[in-house]
Amino acid sequence: MAVCWSWFALFCLFNQGNLVWGLCTEQGVEIEGGRYTLSNQLEEGSLLRYHCDEGFYPYPHLVRTCNYNGQWEPPPTRSRSRSRCRLVECPDPSVLENGNVWPSDEHYFYQNNTRYECYGGYTLYGSSHRTCLSNGKWSGPHPVCRRDSGDHCPDPGIPPGGTKTGILFNIGDKVTYSCNDNTMILVDSEERVCQEDGTWSGKEPTCYYPYTFDTPLEVSHAFGAEIKNTFSNLQTESTVIQEGRSITLTESGILNIYIALDISSSIDQKQFENARLAVLTLIDKIASFSVTPNYDVIFFSSKIIEVVNILSFFDKDQSKKSLADRLNLLKTIEIKRGDKAGTNLNAVFKKFEEKMTIIKQRQEDFEKHQHVIVVFTDGGYNMGGKPTQTVERIKSLILMDKPKEREEHLDIYIFGIGAQIYDANLRSLTVGPPGQRHYFRLRDTNELHQTFEEIINEEGVKGLCGLHRNYGDMYNAEKKRKKYPWIMFVSVMTDQHTSNCLGSLVSPRFVLTAAHCFTVNNLIENIKVSVNGGYMLGVHKIHTHPQYNINAKVDQGVEEFYDYDVALIELIDDVEISTSLRPICLPCTEQTNAALRQTLTCEQQEQLLIRNKDRITFLTKTNLGEKDAHIKMGENRLDCIKKAVLEPRVSVTEENVTEVVTDNFLCTGGDFPEIDKIACKGDSGGAVFKNYLNRTIQIALISWGNKLMDQCLRDQMAVSDEDSRDFHFNLFKVVPFLKDILGKDTPRYAPLVFVD
Ligand SMILES: *[C@@H]1O[C@H](CO)[C@@H](O)[C@H](O)[C@H]1NC(C)=O
Ligand SMILES: *[C@@H]1O[C@H](CO)[C@@H](O)[C@H](O)[C@H]1NC(C)=O
Ligand SMILES: *[C@@H]1O[C@H](CO)[C@@H](O)[C@H](O)[C@H]1NC(C)=O
Repeated sequence: MAVCWSWFALFCLFNQGNLVWGLCTEQGVEIEGGRYTLSNQLEEGSLLRYHCDEGFYPYPHLVRTCNYNGQWEPPPTRSRSRSRCRLVECPDPSVLENGNVWPSDEHYFYQNNTRYECYGGYTLYGSSHRTCLSNGKWSGPHPVCRRDSGDHCPDPGIPPGGTKTGILFNIGDKVTYSCNDNTMILVDSEERVCQEDGTWSGKEPTCYYPYTFDTPLEVSHAFGAEIKNTFSNLQTESTVIQEGRSITLTESGILNIYIALDISSSIDQKQFENARLAVLTLIDKIASFSVTPNYDVIFFSSKIIEVVNILSFFDKDQSKKSLADRLNLLKTIEIKRGDKAGTNLNAVFKKFEEKMTIIKQRQEDFEKHQHVIVVFTDGGYNMGGKPTQTVERIKSLILMDKPKEREEHLDIYIFGIGAQIYDANLRSLTVGPPGQRHYFRLRDTNELHQTFEEIINEEGVKGLCGLHRNYGDMYNAEKKRKKYPWIMFVSVMTDQHTSNCLGSLVSPRFVLTAAHCFTVNNLIENIKVSVNGGYMLGVHKIHTHPQYNINAKVDQGVEEFYDYDVALIELIDDVEISTSLRPICLPCTEQTNAALRQTLTCEQQEQLLIRNKDRITFLTKTNLGEKDAHIKMGENRLDCIKKAVLEPRVSVTEENVTEVVTDNFLCTGGDFPEIDKIACKGDSGGAVFKNYLNRTIQIALISWGNKLMDQCLRDQMAVSDEDSRDFHFNLFKVVPFLKDILGKDTPRYAPLVFVD
């Protein structure tokens, strides 16, 4: 047993049964105004990472590595150039042509504001005001001063800190970019060509300092949009064959996702946990897009550890295994230290190449597969050689010498994480259509996790109705909003009192609720629609179903008649779609077909979604408790609706009960086949829904019931007795009304697309 002694006994480390002491020392590595962390204490290969406050960056170095002879690389220097935190500077904005930048300065720092104005005859495109952000970028899009020059393409402008060559903007003309300071790198297209359609090829470049990072929002915006594109390609490729009444979804458009995670010793335990969580979040998010790709997940350093094997997805014997089972190892695996500090990126690509080759041999439809490789790494490769050749082989395997035609079949994304990034080495390994971002630079793995959390917020998924999060424990209001992002609260004030209803967001502009929540005398200003009780939305108009008439059968003794109890509230403005505010799917829309991942007619959707004894769900107003009930149809329907006679205000007998409970209502309640939950006062207008493949589809709305349940006064989660019944208005019966308003071609709002 080695005796550990040094005047800094802290450096003794227990490692694989031996006491050893760290190689490097902490002398002289301190940073003024900041702190540092070590990925593997003072061991060989450990990465020392500097941290500064928001708006500052470590200078002159972001990181140091402990090398084999116990020296830091780069070594700390004494005296004046000691490490310190410096204020973040943004690249020079005074590259604007044909305009002025205020204030005019030599340097622009974190939180400095700038203004842009064009000379007479020129118009400003992009931001007129920009702020220098803490990640070393300017807020908003690059400003450009343009005038109508008769050129085919618009002046593409110059990124701050950069230079452009090329002054002709007609078809085939080229512009090239570079950054003015050699510490900066140019991210995105170095060269752009004016195309026939009047746009520039590629993507507008930006100059990055070594400390410039992409924010999680930027990454999730770009990556989210790309990955969504991949998914939409898949969806359009899938075809439906209709044989008589049965519908078979053919398996096509297979997506294979290969994920590699760097665990070389420069990544510490916390970073690793973050990265693991990020990968799990990514997979979870992909599942919520309603696509089911095949996955391969590996961890790598000098060696490869296989965590999820894609080949098992193609194995018939294992086809019943759930994704959760397959991901088990990814969730539980512990990473042991002691592996040498190498990073063998080439082995990663070789591994993926090997898997692809096997899939190709085994799957006849390999040509149709799409492949997405996502690599997370904190730096370059220091063993195993350059991966360039391997990537070229993967390209020829997948693109089959038709790089243009088959470009959507292969994407390689690289996420450079942390400070020690060798951009040039990594960027050259990305593959994907020009104009799309495939290389990202993130500050740390913490941000990576946040990135994937936010992907679901992004533009790319705004069109997805009924998308929501699932949580096990449901006690917090914020989580409930994300589980039921479509729920809306409606209140109507009259002189005497306020009545409350629930509603559902069915498009960014419309809320669906029950018509009986309103009377003809209600004034628009007395109708309040809110997301959570606090945030009120402006109401433009109430559209009630033209056939709704509560007094229609007063003469027959029916005090209140609820047929066509449906109303749409038109808001003044679109709501902003987010994780906690998103429309529910409506019957007979294209969006619902997308959610169901089938191409169905309206009638087929109804057959699929409304069946005897099916379990349906609705929410109760207090704390948004979830209530389940079962639809009674066919031979069970009459028994169910007969109980309407118990409501004295509708004077019906068992013989003429259908005069009041028309075929437009779905009946729930009672204790068969299970004890149902029953609606309470205030639940009216709320959605009756089903969850299908992680998407929520509304099939009816809560209209009326035969009994006022005493139990509701004590407990909103009231259960039904033998006789209590709820009658929900079936939305499939009012599709023409919904289509007439929501599907209307008008400049005022974007229409929903209905199917026949
Ligand atoms: C820019 O930021 C620096 C550092 O915070 C500050 O000293 C300077 O006054 C700012 N310049 C302007 C024009 O706001
Ligand atoms: C149902 O029949 C009863 C008795 O014949 C009658 O009094 C009542 O008005 C009818 N109700 C309706 C809605 O027609
Ligand atoms: C999607 O649904 C499945 C099963 O219905 C569930 O296990 C999974 O957690 C859901 N995923 C998300 C992201 O909600």
